[in-house]
Amino acid sequence: MIPDNIIEEIKARNEISDVISTYVTLRKAGSNMNGLCPFHNEKTPSFTVFTATQSFYCFGCGAAGDAITFIRKIENLEYADAVRALAKRSGIEIPEDADRDRGVRRSRILEMNKEAARFFRSQLMTSGEAKAYFIKRGLTQRVLDRFGLGFAPRGFGLIDHLKKLGYTEEEMITAKLAGKGERGMFPFFRNRVMFPIIDTAGSVIAFGGRVMDNSLPKYLNTPDTPAFSKGRNLFALNYARNHCAEELILCEGYMDVIALHAAGFQNAVATLGTALTQEQARLMKRYTGKVIISYDGDRAGQNAADRASAILTEAGLEVRILRIKDAKDPDEYIKSFGPDAFKRLLKGSETKFDFILSNVLARHDVATSDGKIKAAAELCAEIAKVRSAVEQELYIEKTASVLGVEAASLKSDVKKQVRKRNAEQNSSFEKQMMNKALGIGDKINPDHSGNPRASAAEEAILGIMMLHPERVTDIVSGKIALTEEDFVTGFNRKVFIAVRKLFSEGGRDIGVLGSEFSQAEMGRIYEMQVKREGLESSSDTVFLDNINALKAASVAQETDIEKIIKAKLGQ
Ligand code: CTP
Ligand code: MN
Repeated sequence: MIPDNIIEEIKARNEISDVISTYVTLRKAGSNMNGLCPFHNEKTPSFTVFTATQSFYCFGCGAAGDAITFIRKIENLEYADAVRALAKRSGIEIPEDADRDRGVRRSRILEMNKEAARFFRSQLMTSGEAKAYFIKRGLTQRVLDRFGLGFAPRGFGLIDHLKKLGYTEEEMITAKLAGKGERGMFPFFRNRVMFPIIDTAGSVIAFGGRVMDNSLPKYLNTPDTPAFSKGRNLFALNYARNHCAEELILCEGYMDVIALHAAGFQNAVATLGTALTQEQARLMKRYTGKVIISYDGDRAGQNAADRASAILTEAGLEVRILRIKDAKDPDEYIKSFGPDAFKRLLKGSETKFDFILSNVLARHDVATSDGKIKAAAELCAEIAKVRSAVEQELYIEKTASVLGVEAASLKSDVKKQVRKRNAEQNSSFEKQMMNKALGIGDKINPDHSGNPRASAAEEAILGIMMLHPERVTDIVSGKIALTEEDFVTGFNRKVFIAVRKLFSEGGRDIGVLGSEFSQAEMGRIYEMQVKREGLESSSDTVFLDNINALKAASVAQETDIEKIIKAKLGQ
């Protein structure tokens, strides 16, 4: 736990508009600032930063919060990690003891992993079966050494070994090197060949373990630990980072990466048993400007490549997709056809649009005018999906020259498709907004939809409490009669208890509730505050009116407006 006073200090030294400007271009608007919301797609700015309360709110999608919530949301971080990121940004040191629990555990896990990797390697020397497996897969001793590959035997060797080195059972369980069942401790990896996962600092952060036969599951990976998050790391990036000035090659499998490195392609990396994440894309962006996706040749692989391509493009990377023919994956391809053939595949890798273009051309006979029209329609639909205008322009020109038609007519077709799509999006946005007004599909406060009026009163009460801590004093002293029992919806009740506790203990910054509430919940909490902010009416009477409304609402009927909206939505 990081103490509240340090969090407040960190927030004080990180002016929210400075923090947000790193991600969003902000313009002055009165005493506030606004810009295009980074959390949903929009053309007119509805994302507002309030300098007075050091908070943000998007009138389009409802995203809201303080600087910490913003960093949490945009970087996808845990609360404590977002606080640390801001501390670092402003040069504030978080005192040792605040961070010790996590820090020590993390460094202990890393030391333990290193010992485990050593142990697995030594086991590989003595195990005939594992060694034979790797040799059968074409790996030389040099490659085994380079990747630190090993073998996890069946017995309790690792647990005994780590115990001798002074690690406790609890530490082994936290590191996910061992588990504990009814019959005591057991090693997590048993009878598997082992692939250590090493981060760019050179620490062993996790392992992948493969069976040596056809049994399932084929791979086991270390689950997330305080030292490891599978969505934020890449296999072999520790080596590839020094060979990727031009590009990285992204694969699906550990064995693909190892085969590529062994064949001289030292810029290959792989995800860790999950689909590519935005964090992984951003991580790649730190080291290179271009990624060639080299996934399996089957349908599943190509679909995954499509999704990965979108994520990488979004992160600002140039993307090519490589197509493997006559082999299952890059590993097999290199084995069958050799490194030079793979080099040619790399050279021939296409952009996503080229890929679509060749597919469309294969399906239609563009020598006939009918085929030409159909192909043009399909391609225009694809081009309309592309966000960047420059990219659209390029693709239109390419299509025009391939089909032998006027670029101008294709362009107007693309525009039509874009307009159609925008209209569809707007109507679904409208529907979302109406649903939101009724609280339908409200994941944060699921009780809202059954109690819209009570919930609205609760939100007003909470918003006023957050802006006027003296109201909390009145509540605590009993001057104003309001307890958690008066709250109808579960989430708002929880917020009430937390805000009352925070303010009655002298806290002033609701941002510290972030250690208790999720990033989405914090957004809702700030939304309540921001919504009251614009309104002057936070007087005693308004506050009391809302309390009375809340007490009455539990027995009230649907309002007319609720009936109208419900009828419109057909509910
Ligand atoms: N994977 C996993 N869990 C599984 C199967 C696969 O985590 N049960 C992950 C592993 O990271 C694996 C990758 O998905 O490396 C790709 O899977 P696959 O293509 O099946 O494995 P390969 O790496 O190609 O391994 P091999 O060639 O030994 O079959
Ligand atoms: Mn394979």
